[in-house]
Amino acid sequence: MATVTLDGVRKIYHDKGRAHVVVHGLDLAVADGEFLVLVGPSGCGKSTTLRMIAGLEAISEGTLRIGDRVVNDVPARERDIAMVFQNYALYPHMTVAENLGFALALRKVEHAEVQRRVAATAELLGLGELLARRPGQLSGGQRQRVAVGRAIIREPSVFLFDEPLSNLDAKLRVQMRRDLAALRRRLGTTTIYVTHDQVEAMTLGDRIVVMNAGRVEQVDAPLTIYRRPASTFVATFVGSPPMNLLTGTLVPGSAPQFEGGGLRLPVPTAELPAGLPPGAPVILGFRPEAIRLGGDGTPRAAVAEIEPLGNETLISLDTAGTPLAVRHDGPPQVRRGEQVGLTLLPGSLHWFDATTGARLG
Ligand SMILES: Nc1ncnc2c1ncn2[C@@H]1O[C@H](COP(=O)(O)OP(=O)(O)OP(=O)(O)O)[C@@H](O)[C@H]1O
Ligand SMILES: [Mg+2]
Repeated sequence: MATVTLDGVRKIYHDKGRAHVVVHGLDLAVADGEFLVLVGPSGCGKSTTLRMIAGLEAISEGTLRIGDRVVNDVPARERDIAMVFQNYALYPHMTVAENLGFALALRKVEHAEVQRRVAATAELLGLGELLARRPGQLSGGQRQRVAVGRAIIREPSVFLFDEPLSNLDAKLRVQMRRDLAALRRRLGTTTIYVTHDQVEAMTLGDRIVVMNAGRVEQVDAPLTIYRRPASTFVATFVGSPPMNLLTGTLVPGSAPQFEGGGLRLPVPTAELPAGLPPGAPVILGFRPEAIRLGGDGTPRAAVAEIEPLGNETLISLDTAGTPLAVRHDGPPQVRRGEQVGLTLLPGSLHWFDATTGARLG
């Protein structure tokens, strides 16, 4: 059993007599074999959380369990966890083979067994040709593989990854992301993975934890995070360009409308937020791909920017000072400065509380 359970885990740093809470009571239950991804802006506490789980940072309050065992006071090396860092932390004076085998040798694993596992790990990660080299003689991608190899060779019950791909160029990241997904399917080890990269989060995670300023905003399957963001924070953090948000009010009637951000948009009755008092401020959200340009008698906006990406075009509309992002399939069919009509696809509206930002309905 390699579940990881956090109950009210807090991290408080003391600096010149002042207490800084950087993780505010995290409750998380990572299932055996689950791949959990932590995302959130810089400084929100992702690495601190991972380091508390690894045992590299003391837990100020709360309980951490691995399986059924409380490990708050168990030293890092006895937690049966392997961590891969952003900078790989390889031993520069050791060969790839020695880097891979080091942790096993330290644990007094027999020499022949170390050799067998080094060979098997190198085979799994395509490092066979590189075993005699030192880290200084490897590319970034190769170093990254060695760092992963060093983690998996120990066959730990939990892997922790802290932005392992962030030093790689875009193309290599895509390759390594696929390799990690394949490795993960093969090994099935419980994993907690920190990333800034939305595509990594969406494609690798069984569930995503979105953190904000030391608190959890939402924990859900990737597509649920995308389709039903729990707050305006999640709505704008996941998705690129981010979800459009307009603050305004609902104008009731037989053909209800949302008025805000310089627009009056018709709202199908079935898509009205439940229980909102008439006239109360509300935030309307819709994704850039939910907008279709053109149409007669629809609200209009001016085209401010056009970014043709080949397969699609990102268009920025200006509605009385509020920018709206539009994703349009294929080449642009509009010009800068042009007034265009806009229509929202049915079923694409999200509503949020104007004060708290929490999802309504
Ligand atoms: N030793 C420390 N003393 C005081 N504050 C610290 C210490 N280590 C981290 N912090 C603070 O804790 C907060 C969380 O840091 P953490 O490294 O966990 O963020 P992160 O989410 O991993 O960010 P990034 O995406 O930039 O890596 C930050 O505000 C940071 O300044
Ligand atoms: Mg970090």
